[in-house]
Amino acid sequence: MKIVVTGGAGFLGSHIVDLLAETYPKAQIVVFDKLTYAGDLRNLEDAEQKSKIDVVVGDICDQSLCRRTLSRADLLIHTAAESHVDNSFGNSLEFTTTNVLGTHVLLEACRFENVPRILHVSTDEVYGEIPSGSAHEGSPIMPTNPYSASKAAAEMIVHGYWKSYKAPITMVRGNNIFGIRQYPEKIIPIFIMKLLSGQKLPLHGNGKNQRHYVSAPDAARAVMTVVEKGELMQTYNIGSNEEYSNLEIASMICAQFGYDPKDWIDYVADRPYNDIRYGVTADRISALGWVPKRSVKDDLPAIVNWYKKNGYRYSGFG
Ligand SMILES: NC(=O)c1ccc[n+]([C@@H]2O[C@H](COP(=O)([O-])OP(=O)(O)OC[C@H]3O[C@@H](n4cnc5c(N)ncnc54)[C@H](O)[C@@H]3O)[C@@H](O)[C@H]2O)c1
Repeated sequence: MKIVVTGGAGFLGSHIVDLLAETYPKAQIVVFDKLTYAGDLRNLEDAEQKSKIDVVVGDICDQSLCRRTLSRADLLIHTAAESHVDNSFGNSLEFTTTNVLGTHVLLEACRFENVPRILHVSTDEVYGEIPSGSAHEGSPIMPTNPYSASKAAAEMIVHGYWKSYKAPITMVRGNNIFGIRQYPEKIIPIFIMKLLSGQKLPLHGNGKNQRHYVSAPDAARAVMTVVEKGELMQTYNIGSNEEYSNLEIASMICAQFGYDPKDWIDYVADRPYNDIRYGVTADRISALGWVPKRSVKDDLPAIVNWYKKNGYRYSGFG
C-alpha cells in the first residue's frame, strides 16, 4: 500500500504520519512537502522509529511532480496548506495559490493517476462565525478571512470533482488542533514560547473569542477513522466539547509557569476580522466510533515540556 501525505512534515500532517507508521508499518508512506517555515523534517523522527518514511520535497502546485508522486498511490491524505489566519491578512495570494490552486493540481493529478481514495483536510473556519450553537456538515459556508476563504474555495473544487467525476474524495473539517510540533504562530505554542523567552502574551482584542480544541493525535485518529469507515463524497466535522476563550488559554498557560495572567498579558490590536466563535457538531463522525480522548487541560504540561526541550528549533518564531 502506498500512502501519500501532503504537508506531512507540518503539524497535523506529522501526527497523521505517526499514526500511519504505527498502524501500517509495512505501507510505503510518502511525505510530500514543500518544507515552508511550517514544515520540518524533525517532525518525522517519531514516525521514523516505526516505519520507513519517504520524503518528496516539492510544491503541490507542481503538476508533473504531483503526478509522479501520486503514481500507483492507494491513498492521498491532503493536509498541505498555508494555515495561519494572521499571515493571510498579509500575503493572501500565497494562500490562494497553495490552498486552492495546489488542491486543484493535486486532484487533477489524482484523476489522471486513478488514485482510489483521497482525504481532503479542511477546517471548521469555512462555516464562518458561529456565535452560538453548532454548524453541521450541511450548514452554509460563510468564510470571513482570506485563509478560511481559500479553504472554502478548495472545498468548492472538491465539490466540483465529486459532481463531475465522482472523485473518491472524503473531506474533514476540524476544530482548532493543539499539540506538540505546532509552529509557534498559533495561540498555544506562541504563548508558551513567549513565556519561555520572558515575554508577555500578546492577546488579540479583548481575549473573549472562543475556540474549540481537538488534540493532534485525536485529529489524526479522526482522519484515519474517516479514511477507514467514512463514506466517499461525504464531509465529516471533527469537533470536541472543549471550548475556551483566548483569555482562558492565556491564563492556563500562565498557570503552567506559575505566573499571574494580570502581569503577563498584553492586549494588542485585534485581527481585521476575528470570528467570535466557531462551533460544530461531530455527530456524523461519532457515528463512525470516533470520540476525542485527550484534552488541553491534561496535555498542556507535556506540551510545555516539549517546547522547553525543542523550542530552539523555532529561532525565528513569531
Ligand atoms: N492547525 C489547526 O488548528 C487546523 C485546524 C483545522 C484544520 N486545519 C487544516 O489542517 C491542515 C494542516 O494544518 P497544520 O496546522 O498542520 O499546518 P502547518 O502550517 O503546520 O503545516 C502545513 C504543511 O504544509 C506544507 N506546505 C505548505 N505549502 C505547501 C505547498 N505548496 N506544497 C507542499 N507542501 C506545502 C508546509 O511545509 C507544512 O509542512 C491544513 O489544511 C489546515 O487548513 C488545521
